[in-house]
Amino acid sequence: MRALLWNGHHNFYNQEANESLWRAHGAASKLINDYPGIDKGLLLVGPVGSGKTHLAVAILRGLMEKGVPCLFYESGSLLKKIQDSYNPISKTSESRVLAPVYETEVLALDELGATIPTDWVRDMLYQIINTRYNEKKLTIFTTNYGDEVSTERFDEEADLIKQVKSTRKQSNLREKWTLNERIGVALRSRLYEMCVKVEITGEDYRRRLDKRRFDGNYRTESR
Ligand SMILES: Nc1ncnc2c1ncn2[C@@H]1O[C@H](COP(=O)(O)OP(=O)(O)OP(=O)(O)O)[C@@H](O)[C@H]1O
Ligand SMILES: [Mg+2]
Repeated sequence: MRALLWNGHHNFYNQEANESLWRAHGAASKLINDYPGIDKGLLLVGPVGSGKTHLAVAILRGLMEKGVPCLFYESGSLLKKIQDSYNPISKTSESRVLAPVYETEVLALDELGATIPTDWVRDMLYQIINTRYNEKKLTIFTTNYGDEVSTERFDEEADLIKQVKSTRKQSNLREKWTLNERIGVALRSRLYEMCVKVEITGEDYRRRLDKRRFDGNYRTESR
């Protein structure tokens, strides 16, 4: 955990981290230290580039160093893999894909809600997360979607968003959706019980990195 958090980016936490990032870092360290004596995972919520995936990976690395079996999946690729393994004759997806997701002791599911929420997507996410919920298994989620819409939304805009089919265009509109709308109310409700929500605010770290390159300080960041 320590290595991943500091390696090559030693300024990030000690000089530039805002309060929400420090809180998230604290929650991540506590999870690693206290595991297995904890009963809730984390729901890391924040805008693009705020460091959610980085933190989720750092948590898994910290747990793996303690010998805990962990699995990381970006939720879109997991859903794609499940879809690709679907067998129209048996009408099931191969358990080869799903079994480890159900069984691993700790799962990190990155970018929850990023896939366009069709009925199949919602059902599949529900099935996966509900299975882990029933078995009281620890899951760490990251998402761009919060519980409140951050900008005012008018009905006209809502219709427009529903018509947007491409993920790229949707991602420009992501602040207009809530997590409830992306994953369904039943699933969001389970997440309250499964996870502590940790919100990260602040500027896109990728953009900061780019600015520093422009300012000629690239060496500090690329070490
Ligand atoms: N604590 C950190 N120390 C060093 N680099 C970091 C840290 N947190 C994030 N970064 C770097 O900042 C960039 C953005 O972080 P990350 O991918 O975790 O963002 P994200 O919140 O998951 O964004 P998105 O919502 O787009 O998935 C990455 O290149 C990552 O390696
Ligand atoms: Mg990410």
